[in-house]
Formats: sequence, structure tokens, C-alpha cells
Amino acid sequence: MPKTDTRRRLLQRGIQLGGFLAVPAVAEAQTAAAPRRPAPANETLKVIESLRTIHGDFTEARVPDDKLDTILDAAVRAANASNMQSYSIVVSREPDKIMKLTGYRGPCLLLFCADHTRIADVARRLGRPFNGAGMDSFVTSSTNTILAAQTAAIAAKSLGIGSMFTNGIHRGDMERVWDLLGLPQQSCVPLIALILGFPKSEPPYRTGRLRGPGIVHYERYQRLDEKQMDEIIRQHDDPSQHLALNDDWRKSYKHYLDWFYADWLGRFKPAPGEGPMFRRLKKSGYIDGQSG
Ligand SMILES: Cc1cc2nc3c(=O)[nH]c(=O)nc-3n(C[C@H](O)[C@H](O)[C@H](O)COP(=O)(O)O)c2cc1C
Repeated sequence: MPKTDTRRRLLQRGIQLGGFLAVPAVAEAQTAAAPRRPAPANETLKVIESLRTIHGDFTEARVPDDKLDTILDAAVRAANASNMQSYSIVVSREPDKIMKLTGYRGPCLLLFCADHTRIADVARRLGRPFNGAGMDSFVTSSTNTILAAQTAAIAAKSLGIGSMFTNGIHRGDMERVWDLLGLPQQSCVPLIALILGFPKSEPPYRTGRLRGPGIVHYERYQRLDEKQMDEIIRQHDDPSQHLALNDDWRKSYKHYLDWFYADWLGRFKPAPGEGPMFRRLKKSGYIDGQSG
């Protein structure tokens, strides 16, 4: 199809969508092979579009019981390998405990754990062997767990409840998470905490996202060329894109990503040898696969 026809189709589609596809030139710039043609927004997409993290500034308002039940029902509807639901969700409504676990205060916590305990227990009850808790099943179980967690966040938002994912549970002495919640030592690893609640205030903008080259690949993976890398660096410097975590970098760096790699990621340098996460995965049996 000639390029002018593609452009006309995009323009017509943009008009049909009432401006949803606002700038056809941007759509064309994505890639010549796959111009963007987003479908019209619906209620589900609007909820997903409205997702944003409440960075710890929760009010003390309680998440209603019926809404929490609905969120949990939605979470377990997520796809999961072999319909085995190799995860568990620990709910806490104690703000002090939530603070100790995650480093953040909020009215309700859903802790999503990769977990084979229930599955192994039922196998034992039947006198059946269960050998499914090695590294491979940890990866599959992590996928199941995270799909359930994101489904919970979307369900919550659809009910007017905000949320914050945090891996604060992995900071400091991780053993406290097992101690405070009585988690099984083997075959159970908390992956992500989802704090639910209501924000004290709404920010003036949502955090931006990259969408083009390097994120989405059509048919074949394409490494970025230098021009595309420079464009990503530029987008992070552009305040209107809201990709930056903060503005501090402007004082000492030329680019936001200079600050990000040097100062932000620099803080998370892995310790030499086996770190606490590796040791925990070993203890859980997921690394050498000897639990079950
Ligand atoms: C694995 C994971 C860990 C996160 N940990 C934290 C955290 O500890 N503190 C925080 O304020 N936000 C945390 N977030 C939220 C991210 O900062 C947030 O999703 C990102 O900045 C994009 O902002 P948005 O969700 O508002 O669009 C985490 C998100 C994920 C998925």
C-alpha cells in the first residue's frame, strides 16, 4: 500500500476515534512496518490508563471488606500454569505490621508469594509424590504470582481503590517477613507487596512510559541504534514526558539517565558472593529443587 494511503487511513481512523489517535505523524514514526492503530478506549482500558502508584501517602481510610473480597476474587482469576495457582496471598490490615514488612504505612496489604506449600501438602495427603518445587517451577510460579498481583491492582482501581507495589519486603533483614507472617520456610517466597488504600492527594500528572523501539519489537528483536538510544536519553530529560523519578539530576548531571545509572542504580550494587535473596531461594528449596 502506498505511504500516502497508509497516512490517509491513519488520519481517517484518528478522526473516527475522536482524537484517541491524536497525532498520526507520531504513529507513523513508531515503525514503518507496524503503524500504531490503538482501538477505541473502553472502561477496562480507561482503568488501566488511570493506574498510578500511591507512593506511601495513603489516608487511614479502611478498604471495605466487600471490595477487598472482590479484589481477591479478581486476582485469582488471572491465568496460571496448569491451573495450579502456585502462589498464596497474605492479607494484613495492621498498618504497623505493614510498615515493618514493607517500609510503608497503608491500611491494607496483599503480599503475593510464589508458593508450593498447599500443593505439596495436598499431594502428601493423597500419598502422592510431589517434585515440583525446583528452579523451573519457581519461574512458572513467579509468573502466576505476578499475574495475580497485577490483576488485583487493576481490580482495585476499577473499584476506586488506589495501590502501590513495593519490594520493600526484600530490603533489610528478609527473615522478618517469614517471622511476622509465619510463612513456611520452604517452597514459599514473597515476591511483591501490594498496598491498597486511598491517596491523600492526586499528583498533577501520571508517570510516563516508553512505548517505541527497544520496548516493543515486531516479528524480530531489534537492538537500538545510536540515534534511538539518544532519543531515549532525550525523552528522559524532557520534563513533559514525566519519565524521570525526580528532578535532582539537573544539579549535577547532563542527562537524567546519567544520574539514574550512577546514583540511583549505583545504590543497588549486588554484594559479592551469595546475597540474601540467593540464600533465601536456596533455603526455600527453589534453587536446588530439594523441597516439596
Ligand atoms: C517491583 C516493584 C517495586 C516497587 N517498589 C516501590 C517502592 O518501594 N516504593 C515506591 O514508592 N514505589 C515502588 N514501585 C512503584 C514504581 O515506583 C512505579 O510503578 C513507577 O515509578 C511508575 O509509576 P506509576 O506506577 O505511578 O506509573 C514499585 C513497583 C514495582 C513493580
